[in-house]
Amino acid sequence: MRLQEKVETKVGVLIVLSIVVVLWGGLAQIVPLFFQKSLTEPVQGLEPYTALQLAGRDIYIREGCVGCHSQMIRPFRAETERYGHYSVAGEFIYDRPFLWGSKRTGPDLHRVGGRYSDDWHRVHLINPRDVVPESIMPAYAWLEENELDDPYIQNKMRALTIVGTPYTEEQIANAPAALEGKKEMDAMIAYLQGLGIQVKVRR
Ligand code: HEC
Repeated sequence: MRLQEKVETKVGVLIVLSIVVVLWGGLAQIVPLFFQKSLTEPVQGLEPYTALQLAGRDIYIREGCVGCHSQMIRPFRAETERYGHYSVAGEFIYDRPFLWGSKRTGPDLHRVGGRYSDDWHRVHLINPRDVVPESIMPAYAWLEENELDDPYIQNKMRALTIVGTPYTEEQIANAPAALEGKKEMDAMIAYLQGLGIQVKVRR
């Protein structure tokens, strides 16, 4: 009996060998990624989020912005013409959890940093229709009213250092002062304005 026939006529052997092949294929794809510099090292100039941006990011998560906005520009002409340079892995090293998203009811936000003024964002978030009349984005007026209350900011920064974000003791010590007297809106705008500005953007 030929080897192929032996394997294909014994279901048990076929299953075991199939699993071995799939496992090997998976490892061959996944393991090299851990050693590829472009995927494991931050792009040049990438800084961890400031305390204020980090707090804003948590509000972005709380408000579900990721449900309508991706943060992942794909390397297609239609996307790079509209949003700027496509996203690269090294830009997301300090993003935990990732907010790549998968739904684009609104535009991608990965390179929105610096595209509009702080005031534009403030007006837009309070009522999007005031700056984009046809907008279907919900209003988030309460961000302007709510005091920024983030008692766990230092714990969050400490937790992030454990997984590799290089916050210094000084940054952690100064975090509560950086949030003092701010509104949730200030944190959100600080976060948005920092998005994707590390890679040179073509506008
Ligand atoms: C129901 C879907 C939806 C949700 C949820 C949503 N947006 Fe939007 N967003 C849109 C749409 C649609 C637009 C395009 C029209 C406009 O500019 O208002 C947009 C536009 C934007 C823009 C301008 C982007 C650009 O390049 O012009 C920003 C910034 C933005 N949204 C931020 C946010 C933030 C922050 C949140 C969470 C607080 C949020 N969005 C939640 C739908 C949404």
